[in-house]
Amino acid sequence: MQTTGRGNFGSRLGVILASAGSAVGLGNIWRFPTEVGRNGGAAFILVYLCCVFLLALPVMISEFIVGRSSRSNTVGAYRTLAPGKPWVVAGFMGVLGGILVLSFYSVVAGWTLHYTIQSFGLKLMGNQDFGEVFNTFVTNPWKPLVYQFVFLLLTHFVVARGVESGIERFSKVMMPVLLVIILLLSCFSLTLPGARDGLAFLLKPDFSKVTTKVVLSAMGQAFFSLSVGIGCLATYASYFKRETRLVNSALSVCAIDSMVAILSGFIIFPAAFSVAGVQVDSGPGLVYITLPHVFNMVFENIPFIGYLFSGLFYILLLLAALTSTISMHEIATAFFRENYKLSRRVSATVVTLICLLLGTACCLSFGPWSEVKIWGMGFFDLFDFLTAKFMMPLGGILITMFVEWYLDRKLVVDELTNGGTLKVRGLSFLLFLVRWVAPIGVGIVFLNELAG
Ligand code: ALA
Repeated sequence: MQTTGRGNFGSRLGVILASAGSAVGLGNIWRFPTEVGRNGGAAFILVYLCCVFLLALPVMISEFIVGRSSRSNTVGAYRTLAPGKPWVVAGFMGVLGGILVLSFYSVVAGWTLHYTIQSFGLKLMGNQDFGEVFNTFVTNPWKPLVYQFVFLLLTHFVVARGVESGIERFSKVMMPVLLVIILLLSCFSLTLPGARDGLAFLLKPDFSKVTTKVVLSAMGQAFFSLSVGIGCLATYASYFKRETRLVNSALSVCAIDSMVAILSGFIIFPAAFSVAGVQVDSGPGLVYITLPHVFNMVFENIPFIGYLFSGLFYILLLLAALTSTISMHEIATAFFRENYKLSRRVSATVVTLICLLLGTACCLSFGPWSEVKIWGMGFFDLFDFLTAKFMMPLGGILITMFVEWYLDRKLVVDELTNGGTLKVRGLSFLLFLVRWVAPIGVGIVFLNELAG
């Protein structure tokens, strides 16, 4: 078992903020509001919250158990807990999954970096065709690549500094900043003219839209948003101290992540509804086309507020992306470091170089390589598909099965109760979720996604 010189999170707050940082990302601010808008407003939010607490939470707790009890990277964890058994494949899948997510996620994060700079430089203000602006940028053969590289280097520097002085220190500063910005922006947004209609749209439950497909989308969204299934949180948990309360920490992460997602809806819908005729779009359209239009309208009426609104929004998105990418980078960095006995700096450099290479393919798939297709998909869509639809759910099923069906029950209970020193309310219900509800529920999503 590898325990020496691995580093630890120094405090309880550090554990929660770093893990919440891994969870809170583009998925909350960019994808969640769109899903809510499309799928029945508050009705979707209710279904989503059930998925978070009944399916994703057990997976997160399973990751915490595997990570902390092995104190090793995802591959080392399975090797330690199940020597010579094929479970280790799940560990390798986590390393690969982390690299693939980072490669395509950093493309969008790079766009966000560009939009942040443009916004503070007043370049997004004035009457423009924002659809055209966005398309011209993402199809450019080199500009988005430069921003993506800079973003990957930012991620690299945080990870290379280590667990306590890099990841933990960064999360402890950035997560509170992120939470303050999100509260500020919701207040801005709720005072815009027409905000009431946006709020009504968000909060009015339309249960007629809740179909099986919508439930499946909610499950997929919960997994992506909480970063579960590929070992980000197992890797972080390998740096938790023995006193860390696993169940409480997991509940806090789920609560913070859900709160940020819902508050993002409070920013986006009132803002989008304040501009007559704006269509609430999905994906890039929402954040890079619709919102600049909204910010510009606010700017025309109250320039200072419009400027601040736009700048702060893109900073928020950037910070959220960065706290998530460092956790994905760390999965592979910990693996290379411990498996090949490399220094942290060298292993982080290896991971960054691999992601620069694969990330380039993802970035160019919007421009010069748009014709290059594998199974009918460009690199960006392929990596997105492989991770979100395949590796994350499969990883979630495997880790819950591993914890409940393979690991010794005493070890599991010891981890959850810190060697019997903690009283965990609802422990048997939690173990029931891990044993039955999560693997079966996620299995259904997985098969449905594959069939669809
Ligand atoms: N959990 C991260 C997000 O929501 C990946 O963006």
